[in-house]
Amino acid sequence: MPQSYRVAVLGATGAVGTELLQLLEERNFPLADLKLLASPRSAGAKLSFKGEEVPVEVVGDRSFDGMDIVLASAGGSTSKAWAAKIVEAGAVMIDNSSAFRMVPEVPLVVPEVNPDAAATHRGIIANPNCTTILMNVVVYPLHRVQPVQRIVASTYQSASGAGARAMEEVKRQSRAILDGELPKAEILPYPLAFNLFPHNSPLTDSGYCEEELKMVNETRKIFGDDRIRITATCVRVPVLRAHSESINLEFERPFSVAQAREILSQAPGVKLVEDWQKNYFPMPIDATGRDEVLVGRIRQDLSHPNGLELWLCGDQIRKGAALNAVQIAELLIEKGWVRPTAAAIAGKA
Ligand code: A2P
Repeated sequence: MPQSYRVAVLGATGAVGTELLQLLEERNFPLADLKLLASPRSAGAKLSFKGEEVPVEVVGDRSFDGMDIVLASAGGSTSKAWAAKIVEAGAVMIDNSSAFRMVPEVPLVVPEVNPDAAATHRGIIANPNCTTILMNVVVYPLHRVQPVQRIVASTYQSASGAGARAMEEVKRQSRAILDGELPKAEILPYPLAFNLFPHNSPLTDSGYCEEELKMVNETRKIFGDDRIRITATCVRVPVLRAHSESINLEFERPFSVAQAREILSQAPGVKLVEDWQKNYFPMPIDATGRDEVLVGRIRQDLSHPNGLELWLCGDQIRKGAALNAVQIAELLIEKGWVRPTAAAIAGKA
């Protein structure tokens, strides 16, 4: 295995793409080469990396030749369009879109939860949905001690989940409203500034939107447990970045608040933020730009003897997307899994 790696970022100009670049720089990722790819809209653009201006290339048939790792964050249809070319080129695709998450042979990985699943990849690893990652990092350490039986999640999701252009739209809408004008909604379906609405992902026949079903199905896949009952209500709120979630957990037996606090104060990727005297708990502004998922307000569920309530906030663009993808890449390097293992190719991993 080489000591440094040729990495392509597909969707480099987007909200997650630019964060990927920042993380590769910050974490001193062992790069032999860095290729920035986007759509024809970005032809001629340059992005800064380690003090240098790197040109953005329009993705094409030969873009992935010689690459080791492709970090993709350009939407599901773009991922589907290029996945075969990436795998053919011998690179591993760490895909931030939902395109392959529920494909049984594609591992869906949160490094703090199921790192070993990454060993089974045959060229594609899926990065889970942002709200799912944030919830899983917090719930899994409790689940390991006593299996959770039911999860009720309510989310408060920022504009960043809909991309960089949605973030700009919320800023424009805010200015318009403050200037006494009518806000225009072009990227998001309705004005989000000074408003909120149920999540804008497509509705399904079940009455749930796709975002809610991602929390249900992806969590079961990541935890490797189809028996967990999960329900979710996802809401878009006028926060620029960092999602918040109210989580109700039901266990088989009572789970003491003290024990939950102790576990979460030591859990990887989690930071306990609770000051009961000041009524100070996780907030999106404190989670913004941070790697850890902030958790607090851990309390006994008054309505159920085996229930716990908690509140979390996490940076949707970082741990909810870009950071998790970079951590997967680092895990592959550390374990020697960048190329598929012989067992994975034989379907025995
Ligand atoms: P571009 O800036 O050229 O449109 P966000 O999620 O913040 O909206 O970003 C989406 C990212 O995906 C951007 O980098 C965007 O590039 C890229 N992208 C969108 N569609 C395509 C496509 N068809 N081919 C390549 N990149 C794409």
